Amino acid sequence: MTDTPSTDVTAAVREGYAFTGPVLELGALLVDGTPVPEAQIRVPLAMLNRHGLVAGATGTGKTKTLQVMAEQLSAQGVPVFLADVKGDLSGVSQPGRPDDRLSARATSIGQDWQATGYPVEYLALGGLGSGIPVRATVTSFGPVLLSKVLDLNETQSSSLSLIFHFADQAGLALLDLKDLRAVIQYLVSEEGRGDLDGLGGLSKATAGVILRELVAFADAGAEVFFGEPEFDTDDLMRTAPDGRGVVTCLELAGVQDRPALFSTFLLWLLADLFHDLPEAGDLPKPKLVFFFDEAHLLFRDASKAFLEQITQTVRLIRSKGIGVFFVTQSPKDVDADVLAQLGSRVQHALRAFTPDDAKALRQAVSTFPMSGYDLEELLTALGIGEAVVTVLSERGAPTPVAWTRMRAPQSLMAPAPAEAVAAAVAASPLRGEYAQALDRDSAYERLQARLAPPPAAPPPVPAPAPVPAPARREPARTSGRPEKSQPSVVEEVVRSSAFKSFLRSAGTVLGREITRSVLGTASRRRR
Ligand SMILES: Nc1ncnc2c1ncn2[C@@H]1O[C@H](COP(=O)(O)OP(=O)(O)OP(=O)(O)O)[C@@H](O)[C@H]1O
Ligand SMILES: [Mg+2]
Repeated sequence: MTDTPSTDVTAAVREGYAFTGPVLELGALLVDGTPVPEAQIRVPLAMLNRHGLVAGATGTGKTKTLQVMAEQLSAQGVPVFLADVKGDLSGVSQPGRPDDRLSARATSIGQDWQATGYPVEYLALGGLGSGIPVRATVTSFGPVLLSKVLDLNETQSSSLSLIFHFADQAGLALLDLKDLRAVIQYLVSEEGRGDLDGLGGLSKATAGVILRELVAFADAGAEVFFGEPEFDTDDLMRTAPDGRGVVTCLELAGVQDRPALFSTFLLWLLADLFHDLPEAGDLPKPKLVFFFDEAHLLFRDASKAFLEQITQTVRLIRSKGIGVFFVTQSPKDVDADVLAQLGSRVQHALRAFTPDDAKALRQAVSTFPMSGYDLEELLTALGIGEAVVTVLSERGAPTPVAWTRMRAPQSLMAPAPAEAVAAAVAASPLRGEYAQALDRDSAYERLQARLAPPPAAPPPVPAPAPVPAPARREPARTSGRPEKSQPSVVEEVVRSSAFKSFLRSAGTVLGREITRSVLGTASRRRR
């Protein structure tokens, strides 16, 4: 497979992968197909915030590679987030089942394999699945991100900001999409004419376009994601009582036909973490590592604005101590600007059946540093659970390209039994807080009842609590988050809009104006 004398390769790899700090063990070097257990291939924990790519044709071992990495992160106290599109990652909570193939693999590469289950939290988007539901409010999502997912032009985006501004001023909480639709419908109605004129710069026609976009967005399945209780991304950064990092497994099997939902969520998640986390610089180990399996779903049909946002967030989130790994069939599934920022590469086998395959293969080869391998040949000949690897050394330089037999996951290489998932969800500390959807008094209800208070008039202190309507449930927050329980409309505006959507629109006149008026009033607790 290679002309380089095997002793040279082994020596170079041993030297190139001899790190001083903690590492994730990936596997052992293969020389002409024979494993060399003395030459272990690993990635420094400190370099995981430089992000990475796991690629390869279907069935070549990408998801198992992800599992191997997630397990070791958890074992070393680092929380992990897994986007489980196919449902084959839920088994991380269960000890693996040993068999001959597994033992043969482990022995051949010098892996001390121990069947182990890891602490897993199961989540599901908007409750589409058995996990704890994840939702976010429209207010916290903010006009800037929403404009990006709706692919609005500049005029439409600033119009959307005006609509948010109006709702905030009028004390109309934007919790779900129907709240936002209700506010726009009100503004374009006869009754809303005065308010619309008062806003200046928002035309009826543009409001109509935004409304149509929102309807299409809801039709594409995004509606379930918006609402309360809002998920606190802090909850992704937990460790179990035994010190291991919690692996959060987001069940996405029900979401495959709703790419808008998945990408909306992802954008929110990264933006939320980015805005809430302090600058951390380069840490000895990351605070959280994301793995997006089937990442092509993210980029497929994505708008330019969406791609730009992802690229920017991926670039900036590194300094907050967060690592992102994309897992997908071909490197060309990932946007080129994102690809350029990925420090680690685990490339499983590629096929070269069609001209398109051949092109993808050449592209994959071009992303690797120079090596003694004929990568075009090697990449098409790799066995299952083998990969061509290069990572960033502790000094930030690419390590030697290494043909690697990957480790075997110690947890179950299959979905966890449904009962095990149900039991984990029932026992989850997050259940009390998120399990039950809320539909509180918000813009939609208020506009229906024509109860909107006069804009911007500060209420007497203490602020009166919203009058509970008979059919509405009161927020059912459990203890531990007192600052979020039963906020008055004014508090709600100050907290959620001020802290998040305003910061997000910072840079615009609106953002600055509103941020000024509330600075110092809101801060979110970090655990
Ligand atoms: N590191 C490994 N250790 C043990 N077995 C492995 C390993 N990698 C792959 N396998 C075997 O290969 C099968 C396919 O691997 P995996 O599911 O990771 O492929 P994939 O690349 O994610 O495929 P797809 O694109 O279809 O999702 C596994 O079910 C397992 O039997
Ligand atoms: Mg897979």
